[in-house]
Amino acid sequence: MSVLIKNGMVVTSSGRYAADVYVDGEKIKAIGSDLEHTVKAEEVVEAKGKYVLPGAIDPHTHLAMPFMGTTSKDDFRTGSMAAACGGTTTVVDFVLQNKGESLYDAVERKKGIADGMVVVDYSLHPAVLDPRPEVIDEVKKAAREYGTPSFKIFLFYDFRVDDYTMIRLLEETKKYGGLVQVHAENFDIVRRLNENFEQAGTMSPMYHAKAHAILAEEEAVDKAAKMVEFTGSRIYIVHLSSKEGLWKIKKARDRGVEIYAETCPQYLTLNEERYDEPNWQGAKYVMSPPLRPKDSSEELWLGLRYGDVQTIGTDHCPFDFKGQKDMFGKEDYKKIPNGAPGIETMLMLLHSEGVVKGRISLEQMVAALSTNTAKLFGLTDKGEVAVGKDADLVIFDPKQKFTVSQSKLHMNVDYTPWEGWELTGMPSVVYSRGQRVAEWDGKQMKFVGKEGAGRFVKRQPREGS
Ligand code: URP
Ligand code: ZN
Ligand code: ZN
Repeated sequence: MSVLIKNGMVVTSSGRYAADVYVDGEKIKAIGSDLEHTVKAEEVVEAKGKYVLPGAIDPHTHLAMPFMGTTSKDDFRTGSMAAACGGTTTVVDFVLQNKGESLYDAVERKKGIADGMVVVDYSLHPAVLDPRPEVIDEVKKAAREYGTPSFKIFLFYDFRVDDYTMIRLLEETKKYGGLVQVHAENFDIVRRLNENFEQAGTMSPMYHAKAHAILAEEEAVDKAAKMVEFTGSRIYIVHLSSKEGLWKIKKARDRGVEIYAETCPQYLTLNEERYDEPNWQGAKYVMSPPLRPKDSSEELWLGLRYGDVQTIGTDHCPFDFKGQKDMFGKEDYKKIPNGAPGIETMLMLLHSEGVVKGRISLEQMVAALSTNTAKLFGLTDKGEVAVGKDADLVIFDPKQKFTVSQSKLHMNVDYTPWEGWELTGMPSVVYSRGQRVAEWDGKQMKFVGKEGAGRFVKRQPREGS
């Protein structure tokens, strides 16, 4: 299949220019003016007044993940369809290692769940939960052979790792070009605050946010940075939520620590008063770390603007409000499964709340949604509209209005945190390796791709390792 996208505005992380884009098979073959005269395409798409963007890459999803007594609602079929409809053409999901399992077996296990269902390309980050010496030794093979050079650790939850494990993973990833990703919250600060609230009998969703104090994030970010200083390695902080956490990152970077930060649309656009919604509805926003006051959101936008935050991930971990968020009764916020849906709304929220409102430029949006993510995670064929890259493309109409409604989205979950929001800018057509996977039908996005067409992408470790 060949496609000619005519008269669009190609946007990169460093600029924009009017051009035609020619796709032949799975790749971008040519970019230039008046390509009509030089190429013959089976499909010609007029893109005047529209942007041609690299497909977004979501580096943080939890599809079909058993967690807190239940399983996240989207599987690889529904989750990746929703991603495609939102202009996301690559997802990097987490596989939580089981006790006694090798990283290889964990990765193969999750591939077995994804393959045949997934509709856009995907990769996996192994999350190290059982750090036996042989598992630490496996970092080399995971980085160089399995195509999974990033390793998630949690400093929170029952499956958190100790400092020694963090040190050993940092040492091994330094040798083999890998990257440690860390969920940065101090477990014992949260634990003690939980005990205090339990004693006081204050157990509504708002106390989840109070227990997951900003101080817990600050301490853990600081510790992670120190471990990087100790090992001379590098680290990536997932789902950064607070301005104080961001300050710690900036301070560490000022002293020469190689530390990267990801934030999520929910921390940029939603705030802690959501936990006060009546009838236990605050449970919809129970996630870790929690939503913060508005000044943190504004500082995170500035972080994106000034390059202190490199990437956006959704932390898509959807649970139905009815039957999951309220599963264990309504008397204890600690029993609410942590996580919220967002895989479908990332690009639209970043454009509407970020670019349209003047908080970030279009180029900064492309950097954080695609180009930086591809570079950090070794997705060498993705992340840019450039000749030779995969034809993962979004023709984006910056003027198209859309009122967010769960009924018009494709995620397999009974709510969206952004219900009723009026957004400006929607994808018109989305391509995954040259195949049309989603399009605007005049009212909403429609999935037009094929189940199982997505492939596992082997990622590359950092060069020179
Ligand atoms: O609340 C969250 N974030 N749930 C998903 C698991 C994690 O911590 O990333
Ligand atoms: Zn996390
Ligand atoms: Zn997560």
